[in-house]
Amino acid sequence: MENLSSKARQIEFHRLKLTKKEQLTKSIFSLEFEIPSDLKAKYTFEAGQYVSLKFLWNGESIQKDFSMTSAPFEKKIALGIKVNSDESPVNTLIENIKVGRDVEVSVPRGRFTLVSKPHEFRTIVGFAGGIGITPILSHFKNILHNEPRTRLFLFYGNKTAADVAFGEELEQLKLKYPERFEVYHFFSREKVGNGIYEGRLDEKKVALIINQFLLLDDTDEESTIWDAVDEVLICGKGEMIKSLANACYKHGIPKKNIHFELFEEFNEDIFPVEKEFPLLENIEVGFKLLGIQHETTLANNKMRLLQQLLIQGFPVPYSCKSGICGSCECILEEGDVELLENEYLTKKEESAGKILACMSVVLSKKIKVNFDLV
Ligand code: FES
Repeated sequence: MENLSSKARQIEFHRLKLTKKEQLTKSIFSLEFEIPSDLKAKYTFEAGQYVSLKFLWNGESIQKDFSMTSAPFEKKIALGIKVNSDESPVNTLIENIKVGRDVEVSVPRGRFTLVSKPHEFRTIVGFAGGIGITPILSHFKNILHNEPRTRLFLFYGNKTAADVAFGEELEQLKLKYPERFEVYHFFSREKVGNGIYEGRLDEKKVALIINQFLLLDDTDEESTIWDAVDEVLICGKGEMIKSLANACYKHGIPKKNIHFELFEEFNEDIFPVEKEFPLLENIEVGFKLLGIQHETTLANNKMRLLQQLLIQGFPVPYSCKSGICGSCECILEEGDVELLENEYLTKKEESAGKILACMSVVLSKKIKVNFDLV
């Protein structure tokens, strides 16, 4: 999670001391914060989560979300931050923030997490684009540290070698865990003399990766490494995630094992809707969010509920947009929807009226949902 504004959310903030500020590439910085002993419980986090920083920009208090690169065992909050332009609020933040000073940092949150399985032999593949490396780095450090039998493969795309952030930290991990961690770099705007490492991480590249890097499995002669993949983690821009997630799915990874974190507003479906529904138009929608009752009209039910509300500019919570993370969970109080896919809610929760807005197609002319009751 990076650079997405935390709109209208009630989040707990505390002042934490900045202990380190480092420039990693021309546009990427890392910040580290100390967790004081009296706030340790509040800042306990899981790999893959993010915090918000609150700061002044043009005289106004704003907040931005940034993924943590630190793993929970490191007992610190480390962030990777990309500055997109000189005029951006994030640039102001980076220019003004000083080591030794306090900064308002929210408590950690986010659903781009994995259940830890320290006694299992797992194979986990990560795809990161640019600053999307941040939560993947947190996950990989955490898994290498906590799961002695799990092996990890990272495919990391950047424009050029000069844009690679956290390259040194990844090299150190390779040296420390040579048997269990491999990292491959891909460049979209730099020739490196071998076509496989050139170009974007996309669907075609996934096929090449499976055939070139994830083929022979020393631990099982009858299987390929790809056949043994348990979980896939993807982080970066929406188009990249959509392409990679669908490629992994087509190559046999179940959707529930494909985890991703969007690093930009992206209103398209990650996985296409495979079913057709009777067309409804001018649908009345009432919904409660953070104590405020909103009323709106959807032009039709061609897109899922969450995507339509986001396009209209409502600050509805989401992360995966694929029925996996539960961020968009709400209660259907009136009307009908079809829940296309659901890897999050239990049968009991579904019978109690809970739905996932990102996977819900509206099937009545009027619906009412409540995001506050979950
Ligand atoms: S946004 Fe993840 S389940 Fe809806």
